Amino acid sequence: MLALNNKSIKQTLNICGGFIDYFRDPARGTKWSPFNGQARRRQIFDALTGLKFTAIIETGTYLGTTTQHFAETGLPVFSVEGNARRFGFVKARFLRYRNVSIRLGDTRSQLRNILAELGADRRNEPLFFYLDAHWKMDLPLADELDLVLKSCAQPTIMIDDFEVADDPGYGFDDYGKDKALVREYIEPFIVRNKLSVFYPAAPSSEETGFKRGCVVLAKEAAKDQLALLPQLRLSPS
Ligand SMILES: C[S@@+](CC[C@H](N)C(=O)[O-])C[C@H]1O[C@@H](n2cnc3c(N)ncnc32)[C@H](O)[C@@H]1O
Repeated sequence: MLALNNKSIKQTLNICGGFIDYFRDPARGTKWSPFNGQARRRQIFDALTGLKFTAIIETGTYLGTTTQHFAETGLPVFSVEGNARRFGFVKARFLRYRNVSIRLGDTRSQLRNILAELGADRRNEPLFFYLDAHWKMDLPLADELDLVLKSCAQPTIMIDDFEVADDPGYGFDDYGKDKALVREYIEPFIVRNKLSVFYPAAPSSEETGFKRGCVVLAKEAAKDQLALLPQLRLSPS
């Protein structure tokens, strides 16, 4: 019991610390632009908004740099951050935004909560997911995909830090055996859900910022719409 109390006191202090961090240096999360400073990636997202999403869900808020871009769409935005200090920072950053809801906790439990709150009707509508909570050894990505694909009818899922196999100029995350963000990791989801797989159409040489790779996944119904976007190309395999 005592240990639990100590844990929640520590968490509250960390959240307060994050608030203070924000008010001392609000520009901290604006020192680079959204999507790792990648102009081409931003164009992909902006083109995808033509699919008329009714909400945006991000895992891994960090300092809210990409969340800010999502917020400016005016759509309801949910973003999950597991680190209490960073959560405090982004809570303060988005205090004035009525369309942004920042959640503290593990993406798996928080994503489950958000999907339940959205309700069955909203889960049948087009939703955009930006899965970006990869950081060190705990990789929640497979559980996140499982949750989203089981409960949403029309999700468009962008995974950051994903390998673009035929373009090594794009970086990707690799946390060791069975924990690399590569096609093999998502293959069971592709097969089970008959997903269409898209990569950036622009070669890495034309990308700016950190040049991280990404993949965009969609269920069959959205395939034709995505295939029309010049910012994306269908996976060769
Ligand atoms: C790469 S950063 C996100 C960057 C952000 N999406 C952006 O575009 O600016 C990853 C964030 O995910 C968070 N994170 C990692 N694993 C998590 C988990 N299992 N649950 C919640 N947050 C997690 C980390 O604390 C970190 O702030």
